[in-house]
Amino acid sequence: MRKVFILALTFLLVFSFTASADEIKIGSCIYRFNDAFMLRFRNAMSAESEKLGAKIEHADGQDNQITQNEQIDKFIADGVKVLIVNPVDRMSSQLIIDKAKAANIPVVFINREPPEEILNSYEKAYYVGAKAEESGTEAGQIIADYFKANPAADKNHDGKIQFVLLKGQNGHQDMILRSKYSVEAIKNAGIEPVEIASAIANWDKLQAMQIMNAFTMAIGPENIEAVIANNDEMALGAVEALKNSDYNKGDKNFYIPVVGVDANASALDAMNKGEMLGTVLNDSDNQGAAAVKLAYALASGGDVKSIGYEITDNKYIWIPYQKVTRGENK
Ligand code: GAL
Ligand code: CA
Repeated sequence: MRKVFILALTFLLVFSFTASADEIKIGSCIYRFNDAFMLRFRNAMSAESEKLGAKIEHADGQDNQITQNEQIDKFIADGVKVLIVNPVDRMSSQLIIDKAKAANIPVVFINREPPEEILNSYEKAYYVGAKAEESGTEAGQIIADYFKANPAADKNHDGKIQFVLLKGQNGHQDMILRSKYSVEAIKNAGIEPVEIASAIANWDKLQAMQIMNAFTMAIGPENIEAVIANNDEMALGAVEALKNSDYNKGDKNFYIPVVGVDANASALDAMNKGEMLGTVLNDSDNQGAAAVKLAYALASGGDVKSIGYEITDNKYIWIPYQKVTRGENK
C-alpha cells in the first residue's frame, strides 16, 4: 500500500514537473506600450493567459519596426511556441510571417491588419481584430443622430455639418476606414458633411490638442460644428483645446460635439462631464481573450474551432464594435 502511495506520489511529482516544462510560452509584440488602447489590450491578454495557465511576455516595439523585428527574433530564439504580433507597420507583416514560418510557429496578428495576400501566405497566420469601417460608421451615426435631435447644432443654418477630422497614424486601416466611413454615415443619414480642416495626430492626445488649438484659432470655434477623431485620445486632446476657448465646459451654447473611438475610461469620464458626445467601444477584452485563446490552441495542438470565437475564412476573428453615448445626447 505504502509502495503504491509512494509510486503515485512520484508519478504526481514527475507529472507536475513535465507540465510546467511544457508550459506554453507566448511571445507578444506590441507596436508601442505607451498607447492607451493597447494597454487595455495587453492587460486583457495577460489576464486570459493567466486563466489558461500559459506564460505570456510582452515586448515594447517603441513604434519602430526594426526594434520589433529584433524582438521577434529573440522570442523565436527563446523558444516561444507562438507569436502574437501588433505590427508597427502592417505592410511589414510579410517579414514577420517569414520569420515565424522559418521557425514553424504560428503567428496571430492583432489590431493592425496585414494585407490579405500577406496573411494568406502562411497557413498558420491569423488576424484578430475589429472591422474598421464599422467603427467609422458608428461614430458618424452618433454625430448625425445628435444633429437630428439638436437642430441648433447647425450653427450657420445651412443644413450641413462643418466638421474637423483628426486622423490616426498614416496607413493604419483604422485611420483610413474610420475617416472614410464616418463621413459616409453622415451622408447616409441625409446630412451633407463639409470637412473644414483635417490633420494626422497619430492617435496622440497632445498632438491632437496642439492641432485643435491651431484650428480653433484659425477658424473660430463658433464656425466648427463637430469634431470627428479616429480615437478617444485625440478626441480628448480636441476637448482640451476647445476648453481653452471656453467651449465644452458645460454651457450648451458653447459646445461642439466631439466623437472618438475606443471607449477608454478617460473618454467615458469626459462624456459623463458633458465634454464629449460619444465614442465606440473597441472591445479590447474580447479581442485580447480571442487572440490568446487562438494562440494557445494553435501552440498546444488544440482545436481552434472550439475556442468560442468564430473563425472566418480560416484566418480572421472579428469582434464587433458598439456605440456608446449618454442617453440625453439622443
Ligand atoms: C486603434 C485604436 C487606437 C490605437 C491604434 C493602435 O484600433 O483605436 O486608439 O490604439 O489602434 O494601433
Ligand atoms: Ca452647418
